[in-house]
Amino acid sequence: VPALPQGYNFRRVGKEDFQDKNLFKTLSILTTVGDIPEPKFHALIDYWNDRKEIYNPMVITNAENVIIATGMLFVEHKLIHGGGKVGHVEDISVNPSEQGKKLGLIMIRNLIQIAQNEGCYKVILDCDEKNVKFYEKCGMKIEGVEMGYRF
Ligand code: ACO
Repeated sequence: VPALPQGYNFRRVGKEDFQDKNLFKTLSILTTVGDIPEPKFHALIDYWNDRKEIYNPMVITNAENVIIATGMLFVEHKLIHGGGKVGHVEDISVNPSEQGKKLGLIMIRNLIQIAQNEGCYKVILDCDEKNVKFYEKCGMKIEGVEMGYRF
């Protein structure tokens, strides 16, 4: 995993991240975050923390301790492959003011590292065509077709 710039940190999301809203701001680059009241946020953090073998909600903070990148590694525990595990990368977002500094790549490399430590046999994700080049730079390959069913 390449090193982060001086003063930057890779860490797990915590309840304290509700206050300054920088987690929400960074995620809103990716999609609609919606209205999440503080109790709902805290309940979700508890839910994730009670299932640390599954949920790895991670962020990168800059030298000012502001969240500027997000990423989730979701570990699926399967029956096939001898009860194997698959890592799913979700919700990757880098604040526009911090894009192009390899932070996206470092986030992905760190999530892949967690997946390897957890014993996953592969890591997969769904993305737009425009992000294919980025994920290829992260060492991933096109392997299938994304499909969805919306409610
Ligand atoms: N097209 C081509 N190459 C790209 C692109 C792109 N769109 N984005 C990055 N790269 C290249 C960079 O040039 C760099 O190449 P280099 O090593 O040769 O210099 C390499 O990929 C790594 O780039 P980073 O600097 O790590 O990328 P960045 O930190 O800017 O993050 C990201 C990339 C996450 C796609 C960012 O642009 C972003 O947040 N976009 C908006 C949200 C988004 O689309 N997220 C992905 C959703 S998919 C999912 O979550 C599973």
